[in-house]
Amino acid sequence: MSSVTDRYDPLDTEVLRDPYPVLAELRMREPVFWHAGMDSWALTRYADSVRVLRDHESFARDLRRTGGTVPEPSLSVQTLDPPQQSRVRSLFMSALRAQDLTAVEDRARIVVRERLDQLVGGGPFDVMAEIAVPLSVAVVADLLGVEPPPYGEFAAVSDAIMRSMDGGLNPALVEPGRIARQQLSDLVDSWFASSARPGLLAHARQAAAPDSDALARLYVKNTARVMFQGGYSTMAAAVGNAVHTLLAHPGTLERMRDRSLLATGVDELVRFDGPVQGTTRTAVRSCRIGGVDIAPGQKVVPLFAAANRDPAAFTQADELMLDRTPKRHLGYGWGPHACIGTTVAQAGLRALVAALNEHPARLATVGEGVRRRTATMRAFDTLPAALLP
Ligand code: HEM
Repeated sequence: MSSVTDRYDPLDTEVLRDPYPVLAELRMREPVFWHAGMDSWALTRYADSVRVLRDHESFARDLRRTGGTVPEPSLSVQTLDPPQQSRVRSLFMSALRAQDLTAVEDRARIVVRERLDQLVGGGPFDVMAEIAVPLSVAVVADLLGVEPPPYGEFAAVSDAIMRSMDGGLNPALVEPGRIARQQLSDLVDSWFASSARPGLLAHARQAAAPDSDALARLYVKNTARVMFQGGYSTMAAAVGNAVHTLLAHPGTLERMRDRSLLATGVDELVRFDGPVQGTTRTAVRSCRIGGVDIAPGQKVVPLFAAANRDPAAFTQADELMLDRTPKRHLGYGWGPHACIGTTVAQAGLRALVAALNEHPARLATVGEGVRRRTATMRAFDTLPAALLP
């Protein structure tokens, strides 16, 4: 019989439906294992993943540190490493802190409420197209201070970029991803060229002023693109996963009427079934993790989905516990590349849950959703639901 590591295929239909049993088996039998398809060492334990994410000196995100290349349009907060990355990261962090996130949350709640008003009485609908996409585009556009692009068109461009994150497993996805990235760059250029409304982008534009050097301007523009597209696509996936989890756990949504459970609960939803399944780093020097020798140049993939269900880090890790004490999960990453938009994502998810609770109609499941065949991002392509009076 083949070993569990040979059998682990992140794109297998059963794994896409429920990855947690196989990840638990891997964590128990071979917590650090070589995955030929990903051409990487995969990590399933919380402690090992935190160690890699924290130690940016030994584990690079910037491929140029290990002899690779990064095309100019991809140079951003996400692909650079400290110390180069730190300047652009702190610029975006302080621009974010200057935003009124309570107002963003309130406006997001209105967006969801209006969608629900339109959907009620209209039969079954797709949560992704009707709620997750509009909510997520609205939140990131509001944050950045730009006019939201047409939902459908933007979702198609973003999907091509999201799918290209699996380019290692399927090289055919790389070129459509590159073209979509260019289309998105053109959109971001138009925002930079026009006079932006107040918002995060207005701060960033100042930093990209003509007197700053060309490279700094490039990093800022590329990071604005990552904020918009990465923020939108991860948020949309998180909304779908959260709705699915809420529908699968009757009574949970109603319990989140309690403000303190709403605050901790939206984080628990991301730990329990978050969108980002893992990330990649490359070893800069020889290292030993979990008794396994990693050679310089080899890739290491901390699997967030596995780490977030590690019983050594979380009691009753497979249970959804809305009041879980705040042990930090890895759904938003860790270390110098941890999510910049965490507080925005939390505000968007609170808005979703509050609007669902405030609405007189009740959200109900009407059948199985279809999981997207992507390994890096756990998302639904479609998720049917209905609003019952
Ligand atoms: C629930 C929704 C979200 C989740 C679960 C999430 C998760 C993550 C994770 C796991 C990372 C780290 C990836 C790595 O280490 O390679 C990350 C990075 C990032 N996220 Fe999010 N994210 C969400 C929403 C957002 C939003 C709304 C924004 C912006 C408005 C955003 C902006 C970013 C940026 C810019 C980075 C790159 C940071 C860096 O490399 O320094 N995210 N996110």
